[in-house]
Amino acid sequence: MADETVAAPAPTPGVLAGEASRYLIATAARAPSVHNTQPWRFRVDGDAIELYCDPRRRLRTDPGGREMLISCGAALFGLRLAVRSLGYRPVVNLLPEPGRRRLLARVTLGAAEPMTAADYEMLKAVPHRHTHRGAFAAGPLPDGLLPRLQHDALAEGATLAIIDRGLAYQRLADIVGATARTVDLDPRARAELRRWTRRVGSGARDGVPARAFPAVAAQQPGRRSGRLRQRDFDLGRGLGLLEPAGRDGGDPAVTAVLLTTGDGRADWLQAGQALNRLLLHAASRWVFASLYTQPLEIPPIRTLIRERLALPGAPQVVLQLGVSHTADATARRPPAEVTEQGPLSLLQAGPS
Ligand SMILES: Cc1cc2nc3c(=O)[nH]c(=O)nc-3n(C[C@H](O)[C@H](O)[C@H](O)COP(=O)(O)O)c2cc1C
Repeated sequence: MADETVAAPAPTPGVLAGEASRYLIATAARAPSVHNTQPWRFRVDGDAIELYCDPRRRLRTDPGGREMLISCGAALFGLRLAVRSLGYRPVVNLLPEPGRRRLLARVTLGAAEPMTAADYEMLKAVPHRHTHRGAFAAGPLPDGLLPRLQHDALAEGATLAIIDRGLAYQRLADIVGATARTVDLDPRARAELRRWTRRVGSGARDGVPARAFPAVAAQQPGRRSGRLRQRDFDLGRGLGLLEPAGRDGGDPAVTAVLLTTGDGRADWLQAGQALNRLLLHAASRWVFASLYTQPLEIPPIRTLIRERLALPGAPQVVLQLGVSHTADATARRPPAEVTEQGPLSLLQAGPS
């Protein structure tokens, strides 16, 4: 009997030339990144797209590159999703050459495979997904969304731990608040915030714009508030234009911590992929997140959060999720600015 299975057609050689690769890179580059540093570079190499980190954009408060790699992991998920939208299965080789630490992933097009409905929903949410720092609309998350987001995390090898309103939340809020009071005074952290915040009218295509943060973020939320203390992007300069979340109102519906089993480079890339996947799923239902990583930049505080909340993994990102009807996306550098055209000298070697 003849074999009736039909092999899926292989991608046409050269499919990544020109417009297709610009589309893939532009979609990947819409990912969230710490302080909107966009610490990534891409290189099209024949039938592969390589993702590199760009250590010139790493924060000085992130010496190990953890937040830089979470950000790059988020871009990697965007790249995978964009490949799916071209009708191919992405084949990802993570950290393919241990001697080249800046090379984070090599992505090629695998077998032809139509996009699923879930992929399509996430893809549609790419332009309007954004970090939400203002008040949320009242009410719970749409039915079934939270288990869906937890599934997203698991599918990427991470865990989304939900923090109950009660003792666990209060412990977390106390640690976040106490850490912020110290870190807000740290000259290194303040210098990075100044470097990566943008005044109104700035033409910069990176950094956090004035309309995305409030001028009074450093206010300690009321004790009964369900809102964690946010990073102070304003630093008393009066730049922020965002309407601040009320002291007791506009609270998020859910507080969660994204965890990984280990705490190395591959884990951080996994955390980033999980983060972008669940944020896009959420955004497809008009649910957005505030992100909090300031306390997690200090290793003993990360250990403290893990222990005090009895978390079953290494905390990578704290999130608060809620419904909102805004669609205020921030700027990104265009593909040409994040694509390596010339020799590999920058990307080849050196510490990251
Ligand atoms: C690893 C990581 C850490 C982040 N930490 C914070 C944070 O502590 N506070 C905050 O308000 N936003 C945080 N963000 C969100 C970024 O500021 C945001 O993604 C960036 O400004 C781009 O804006 P967008 O998400 O609206 O596209 C973080 C994002 C990532 C990926």
